[in-house]
Formats: sequence, C-alpha cells, structure tokens
Amino acid sequence: MCGIVGYIGKKRAVDIILKGLSHLEYRGYDSAGIALVSKNDAHIYKASGKLNNLKEIISREKEENISTTAGIGHTRWATHGLPTEVNAHPHTCNCGSLIIVHNGIIENYKDLKPELEQKGCRFKSQTDTEVAAHLIAHEFDNKKDLLKAVQSAVKKLKGAYAFCVMHKSMPDKIIAARKNAPLIIGTGEGENFIASDIPAIIEYTKKAIYVSDNQVAEVKADSVKIYNETGDLISNKVENLPFEPVALSKMGYKHFMLKEIHEQPDVVRNVLVDKIQNEDKAVLLDDVKLSGEKLSKINRIQIIACGTSLHAGLVGKYVIEELTKIPVDVEASSEYIYRNTIADENTLVIGISQSGETADTITAIKQAKENKSHILIITNRKDSAMARLADSLLLINAGIEVSVAATKSYMAQLISIYALAIYLAETTGKTGNSKLKELKKELLTLPSKLEIVLNDTKNIKEIAKKYSSSKDFIFIARGINYPSALEGALKLKEISYINATGYPAGELKHGPIAMLDETMPVLAILNKGIVFDKVLSNCEEAKARQARLIGVTNFIDEKHINLFDDLVIIPEISDMVSPALNIVVLQLLAYHISEYLGKDVDQPRNLAKSVTVE
Ligand code: F6R
Repeated sequence: MCGIVGYIGKKRAVDIILKGLSHLEYRGYDSAGIALVSKNDAHIYKASGKLNNLKEIISREKEENISTTAGIGHTRWATHGLPTEVNAHPHTCNCGSLIIVHNGIIENYKDLKPELEQKGCRFKSQTDTEVAAHLIAHEFDNKKDLLKAVQSAVKKLKGAYAFCVMHKSMPDKIIAARKNAPLIIGTGEGENFIASDIPAIIEYTKKAIYVSDNQVAEVKADSVKIYNETGDLISNKVENLPFEPVALSKMGYKHFMLKEIHEQPDVVRNVLVDKIQNEDKAVLLDDVKLSGEKLSKINRIQIIACGTSLHAGLVGKYVIEELTKIPVDVEASSEYIYRNTIADENTLVIGISQSGETADTITAIKQAKENKSHILIITNRKDSAMARLADSLLLINAGIEVSVAATKSYMAQLISIYALAIYLAETTGKTGNSKLKELKKELLTLPSKLEIVLNDTKNIKEIAKKYSSSKDFIFIARGINYPSALEGALKLKEISYINATGYPAGELKHGPIAMLDETMPVLAILNKGIVFDKVLSNCEEAKARQARLIGVTNFIDEKHINLFDDLVIIPEISDMVSPALNIVVLQLLAYHISEYLGKDVDQPRNLAKSVTVE
C-alpha cells in the first residue's frame, strides 16, 4: 500500500529517499511527497500522480533547499480524501515545524479532530494523518521532547500506523512508530534508513531491525533506540535482509509481470526442491508442526485469504478434501471477520497471503487464534506480520514479486498447497500411496510443461489482439478449474479494466446466459476429466447464443474443433494439477490484452501490492 522512506546520515537525503520511493512504486500509489529537514528549516514537496511529477518539481528547486542529509518521503494510496497534492504526505502542524508521513488508517481521527480544532489546529487536508500531525505537535509543545511526544500521542490513536516524524528544531532524529503496518530500520555506518518494505533500502544496506507493533524508535545518524509500549528501552535483533537488488530488474522483459510469468517453471522447481524430492519420498515441510496425533483431532479446515490468494485457497479445497477427506471451507478474510465463525482447537485454519501483510487476513487470523485453532500460514514473506502469528509456516519461496498483479506467487501458492495436501494425506493415511505417488510425479514434470506453454505464445498473443477491444469477458470452468476461471477474470480486469467475470460453467444457464450475443467472448477451460463433457455442453449452449468461444484445453477431438472460434492447446496433464497449467494461458492473455491497450501493466490504477487497510 503506501510507501515510507526515511534517511538520516551524511549523504544527500533527497537522492536516497526518491530512489527508495521508486523501489516501492510497484506497490501502487497515487501521489507522493518528501520533506527535507535541516536546522530550523524544512522544505516539503508534494505532487499528485506518479513519482516523476514529484521529481520534476524537485529538479527545479535551488540546491541549498534540497541538500540536507535528513528527510522523510511517502507514496500515498488514497483512503481518506482524493489523491490530490494537498492530501499527499508529508503533513504538518499549523506552523509546519512538525512533519509526518504515515501508512495505515487512524480510525478515531473524527473523534480527535474537534478537540484539536478547539485548540486552534487548522486542517488543510481531508486525511486522517493530519490529525496525528497536530496531535503529536501538541504533545511536543507540552513535553519539548519528540520521542516522548510520539509515545504519548500514539496512546490516543486507534487503528493502524507506521509513522516517521521529524521536527524542524531537532533535525538530528527521526521518530518512527508502528502498529499493524510494516516498518523496518536499515542500519549503516553513520547513517540509518527507515522503510515500509525492504526494496526501498536494499541497495544501501543488508542489515535491518524489524520494528514490532506498539514500539517507538528514535533513529539518529549513529544510533537506533527502540522503546516498547511501556516506554522501556529494549533491543531488537539486527537481521540480515533477504532480497538481492537484481530482483528489482526486468531482465530484458518489457514488464515485470511478463518476467514473473516466465519465471514460473523455476518457481515450481524452487518450491519443490526441498519439499518433494522424488515420488517415492514423503513430503517434507520443515515448519509445519502438525503431528499425526494433532491431525487425527482436526475435523475441519478453514482457508482464509483475499483476491488471488483466495483463488489458490479454492483450488486447495478440491485437493485437500480429495486427499484427506477433511471438510474444507474457503472464505474471503473480510467475510470471515466480525461474525462468530465456528472454529475451535480441532479446526486447522490456513491463512494464505503473498505479502503476509493483508489487513483483512491478519484480522481473520487473529480471530481464529482467539478460538485456539491451529494457524498455518502460507506466505512469501517470512518476515511478515502473518508469519509471526503462525503456529505452522509454509513459505512459498516465489522470490520478490514486483508487478501488482500476482502471477508467480499464485503458482507458488498452488504448488505449496499441493505439497501440503500430500503431507496431510501421508500423515493421516487417508489416501493410497499410488495416488499420492502419481500426483508427486505430475508436480515434478510440471516445470517442463509450463515451459512448453511459455516457449510458444504466438497463438495467445493473436487471440489477445483479436479480443482486446471487447468490453466484457466471461470465463467458465467446472470443478477444480472453477477457481482458474475466477483468477483468469480477476487478472484481466485488474490490468486491462475490461469487465470480466468467472462462473462455474453449469451456472451459465441460471442467469449469465442472458448476456450472451455475438459481442461477448466466453473463455472455457476444458480439461480431460470428469467434467469435460459437461463443460463442452455449456460451450454448445454459449455458441447457440452466438457468443465468441475461446477454448483452453488439453483434449479436443475433430468433431468439436469447429465449435470454437479460437483454441489454446496445452500439454497433457491430470485434472488435479491442471489449474497450475491453465492459469499461465490466462495470465498471458490478460497481459497481452493490457499491453495492446497500452495500459500500465505493472501498476494498474487504484491497486496496491499489499493492502494493509481493512
Ligand atoms: C491480484 C492481487 C490481489 C492480492 C490480494 C491479497 O493480482 O494481487 O488480489 O492477491 O490483495 O494479497 P496477499 O496475497 O498479499 O494477501
């Protein structure tokens, strides 16, 4: 979501902060700003739209105004108030002395505002953040100590925040605070960095301190002091950061999304390497702490996730139920919360999240934890808030995903879920060995099948071009590929803004069929297997209404070829593993349509890479 970068040291802060913000651009934002602070002087620059607009403004500034060695910057994803310059961060108190950038939402800002207004605070923006600026400024007026002012102010705030706060009168320090929003402090020699995510600072340092909820940090050029909720000085571990800067390069591809789609065969290999060595060996999941005894008591599984991760969870339902016979419910995290969900110590709750920071899923996991359920987290980020809540952890090892639209992380989630399902089946003994062996074999040969699809994308590109002017799209499938239809539709609408909907193919006749005519493309996923004939009949129904039919299939006979306007043939694959192959076709289709339409593929409008507000 929003990005924060702070710097204090000996170099030009403006360069480090702008570069850091550019490395957070992929997370999605709609305005940006920076404050450069020196003794009794602060220069604040803001711009709506892309970071280049801000850079342009700064490039016209006098050198003496931008040559400071301390400052804070922000990319804002609008929640309260339009994405305008006035709503962009940093925000200040009346006189501009206290300066703040903030991620998260101050939920009680409307309660706090009247009292501050009575004390003379004048609000310029519609943001919740400006309330925090005035509140901290008031505490500072009383205490004349910036650290104490922040410590005291955060006690009055409800909601989520990661802050960086500076004061003109003391440019030698940045105060950082965190609650339910990610924040790290990168450490260096005579300089320190603050960021909401690793890519912002990885170029400068490989060492960082993770700030935990309710902690406040005082960061100077040569020291970092962390205080807990009660104000005691504590020492957080300095950890090695996991990312290489090369992850942030497009490696010759036009967009990160295309690069990440093409990385998927290696992503599958990476997931499998330490989990499924060959079909004769049992699955190894180092951090999954579910013994046979514990599992024998588990009588239901709940999967909670959002967006693409939710679709991975839906595939998980089919696989886990088939292999373990334990009933699995899958629910959007935002629907799971704020009701009395039926979960107890015999429920296994699986949270799936690429970022591990999605606010809805964190709240859902906390709710399940209160019910004493065993929490298993499937995530790409071992340093995330969700990973820290886990009783069992399954890291998907997809590497950093820069494009806002999730592709390779979905693949890694699917493969991790297959591995988990086999692990559960092997531990509970609910499925015969030969079936599990067959599944492992299929997974081990998946990378070469993905390469076949990825090595020849000409047909998919042509189909993309042909349908790129469509206003609507329908995706249909049945059984284990129904989630593929949902995910294909989500990818298309996210990056091309074409209205796309995924339906269980059998549902077409119960309503959506009314929309079909010669302008409506219907993409059908047909895999050899139990529902093949049924989906074929649904395709006939669509064709009878003159819909333009695209088939994605691994099996088609001569007599049905003419039913389709266009066909994408994928390699032979079992029904159970087919979602991992079909989805690549749908990702490529969405990518090329978006590209033909000239959209901002990697940073689609209104979207953020990790959604840290509920
Ligand atoms: C879609 C996409 C989003 C995320 C969703 C959950 O391409 O990226 O739908 O899947 O916001 O995010 P995580 O997986 O980080 O919890």
